[in-house]
Amino acid sequence: MLQDIKSFPLAQMLGQRPLQVAIIVPTFNEAENIAPLIARISAALADFQWEVIFVDDNSPDHTANVVREFALTHPHIRIVQRVGRRGLSSAVIEGMLASAAPIVAVMDGDMQHDEAILPDLIRAVADHRADIAIGTRYAPGGGTQGWDVARLRLSRAATRLGQITLRVPLSDPMSGFFAVRRDVMTAALPRLSGIGFKILLDILASLPQHPRIVEIPYQFRNRVAGESKADSQIALEYLMLLADKTIGRILPMRLLSFLVVGGLGVGVHLSMLALGLILGIGFADGQIIAVTTAIAFNFFLNNSFTYRDRRLRGAKLWRGLASFFAVSAVGALANIGIGNWVHDMDRSWWLSAIAGIVVGAVWNFAASSFVTWRK
Ligand code: GDD
Ligand code: MN
Repeated sequence: MLQDIKSFPLAQMLGQRPLQVAIIVPTFNEAENIAPLIARISAALADFQWEVIFVDDNSPDHTANVVREFALTHPHIRIVQRVGRRGLSSAVIEGMLASAAPIVAVMDGDMQHDEAILPDLIRAVADHRADIAIGTRYAPGGGTQGWDVARLRLSRAATRLGQITLRVPLSDPMSGFFAVRRDVMTAALPRLSGIGFKILLDILASLPQHPRIVEIPYQFRNRVAGESKADSQIALEYLMLLADKTIGRILPMRLLSFLVVGGLGVGVHLSMLALGLILGIGFADGQIIAVTTAIAFNFFLNNSFTYRDRRLRGAKLWRGLASFFAVSAVGALANIGIGNWVHDMDRSWWLSAIAGIVVGAVWNFAASSFVTWRK
């Protein structure tokens, strides 16, 4: 059967040579950039058998439909449209998986990356001179146009941070412009985090072996149409990625985030209690207010960060708050119960308390992920 399929002369029928490279372009609100970008890629890749896959997160400006109009008459222009999802890295991963090409290249959809170096990037990995070929802004010949000092400093600082935490000896580890062979990509797949904007860093930190790298300088252009999506949320996701790639091996990101929020909640509890005592409210009443505030504080913070991918809104938000209170009440009882039980076994007061806290926290984490932020 398989033999039949293999001998079926599909390639000849289509009159095509096999596909060599897929260009993966993540897009969000890039409708105006699609036509000129396709023209530029076509011109740059005249010597290759290529396809371009736009991975669009259901952009309100209907970027996906603009791509479809081209795709109707050009089968090497493709669209992957995702609904209810966001994220540059995960978009790129899914675009790569949607292609059969032995080489994949990634570039932005806003023409800030110079397509003229695409052939060099592709050849470097095709010839096995490198496993990954990266377009760099920060090597001789590369650069950024018209960035002010503040933006340059910020980019440099983020670059340094990435270089140090992930130990990658690259001039531009934040680059989103590169080519990689499929076998290399496949080796990285099982460990990819898929968090945030920095897919190259994710791949580098997920590879079992140090890849051979070639860097090719280019001038990062200014955006002409549309707007940048980089904001404080993206910065936060960058830190999450770095954390996931370092301590994340030991401690899952969600649990870590939950524990950090819980730690901040302890601060809220103590502050509220102190405030209550200053205002002359008794200890018992102060405790009730402090606990209630701390639980609500934890709920909203977890809803915004720990579970931002399952964020509750509207009526579900208030139902979620109620269930989080219920979960936390059980957690508090477990905390006290375990603490007393350990204490009864003649252990020190602090060891008993810590045992209670650990059990309570683990309960809160597990139960709230099943009840409050159920998938
Ligand atoms: N599918 C999808 N989903 N695409 C997205 C999303 C998203 O949530 N957010 C952004 N994009 C697309 C944009 O439409 C654009 O094509 C590309 O990802 C880059 O986004 P920009 O908003 O233009 O980011 P930038 O210019 O600040 O930074 C880019 O260039 C740097 C330099 O190479 C990013 O690609 C960085 O990762 C890169 O280092
Ligand atoms: Mn851009």
